[in-house]
Amino acid sequence: MKNILITGGAGFIGSHVVRLFVNTYPNYNIFNLDALTYAGNLENITDIADASNYTFIKGDIKDIGFINSLFQKHQFDRVIHLAAESHVDRSITNPNAFIETNVLGTANLLNAFRDLWLGNFDDKLFYHVSTDEVYGSLGKTGLFVETTPYDPQSPYAASKAASDHIVRSFGNTYQMPFVISNCSNNYGANQFPEKLIPLFIHNIKNNKPLPVYGDGNYTRDWLYVEDHAKAIDLIFHKGKVTETYNIGGFNEWTNLNLIHLLCEQLDKKLDQPKGTAAKLITYVKDRAGHDRRYAIDATKLSEELGWKPSVTFEEGLSKTVDWYLENSVWLNNVTSGTYKKYYKKMYG
Ligand code: NAD
Ligand code: DAU
Repeated sequence: MKNILITGGAGFIGSHVVRLFVNTYPNYNIFNLDALTYAGNLENITDIADASNYTFIKGDIKDIGFINSLFQKHQFDRVIHLAAESHVDRSITNPNAFIETNVLGTANLLNAFRDLWLGNFDDKLFYHVSTDEVYGSLGKTGLFVETTPYDPQSPYAASKAASDHIVRSFGNTYQMPFVISNCSNNYGANQFPEKLIPLFIHNIKNNKPLPVYGDGNYTRDWLYVEDHAKAIDLIFHKGKVTETYNIGGFNEWTNLNLIHLLCEQLDKKLDQPKGTAAKLITYVKDRAGHDRRYAIDATKLSEELGWKPSVTFEEGLSKTVDWYLENSVWLNNVTSGTYKKYYKKMYG
């Protein structure tokens, strides 16, 4: 029986990871630690809430005393760390929130894990989930590989880069077994509608403008969130300790091409004339310091561990649009703040 701590399991990617682990590994005790910030939503994981191998803990990774006592109490054998402030635009308006959670919060977890197992790290693992944004911005050609030098450009990216470095320093200094994965842009069910795809689906549904930053010719590599969760499972079980794995879909889209595909899919699914959604496209002021292009080379992960994405982008996007259209209660609650009132009532 292993005690596995997953942080940030009420968020977008974390909820898919928690579900996969709870359903696939009945012999693991899965503890989901989440502060339930604006981005954390227990409605993401109602289906596994009563599973016998699952425990939810509301708590903040910034709280060092709480984190230390939690590790002492549950003796976590392994950690998968996803909890973070994750939205680039918010990091531009409030960088300190990112430094506090992503840097200091990660350091708190590392210290607690080290104090628990120092000298006896057999079969222990600290898995740190990170982003391709640590590598900075690419020109027209080239891909990020695991050895690409770090060059983070936004406060979010810098806070994630710092946390990656601190994880590696604990591996080097205390021989703490760790693994890091750096993933490209995720999309799928349960993503908070501040990120491009769910925001635009919500706005098209509600006939609101689609705010395209700058010229719209920024490029991202998109990966279906369930494929990210499966990659994390594979790396957690088969990845080499102290290694880094890049995860990505070999699936580059300019924002404008993606937005046009999304508009076409929504016109069909909402049964409205072709071109209706695209009329909502509105060019707005660019994001400060906007990274031009990200693209991941995931060859190491596919060659060493046999991973590959399970869906094409068109299929994944279609499934994603269907999910948001079928889950209007979830979307309405998230955008109206109903769930926040619920948490206030439940947890104070
Ligand atoms: P998210 O914002 O949807 O979820 C973050 C979760 O962390 C929320 O449930 C939130 O309540 C929780 N959290 C935030 N601060 C906390 C704190 N101080 N203590 C405890 N819990 C806290 O984020 P996401 O998009 O699911 O990203 C998850 C992880 O994956 C992050 O580390 C992010 O950097 C990384 N990542 C995200 C993407 C992406 O495209 N979304 C891609 C690559 C890597
Ligand atoms: O690359 C991985 C990263 O992907 C993750 O680490 C981050 O947590 C995640 O938020 C995401 O970052 P991006 O900044 O790439 O994602 P976002 O959805 O915010 O924006 C995608 C692109 O769309 C980007 O070029 C900015 C643009 N955009 C975004 C929004 C919200 C717009 O043009 N208009 C918008 O309203």
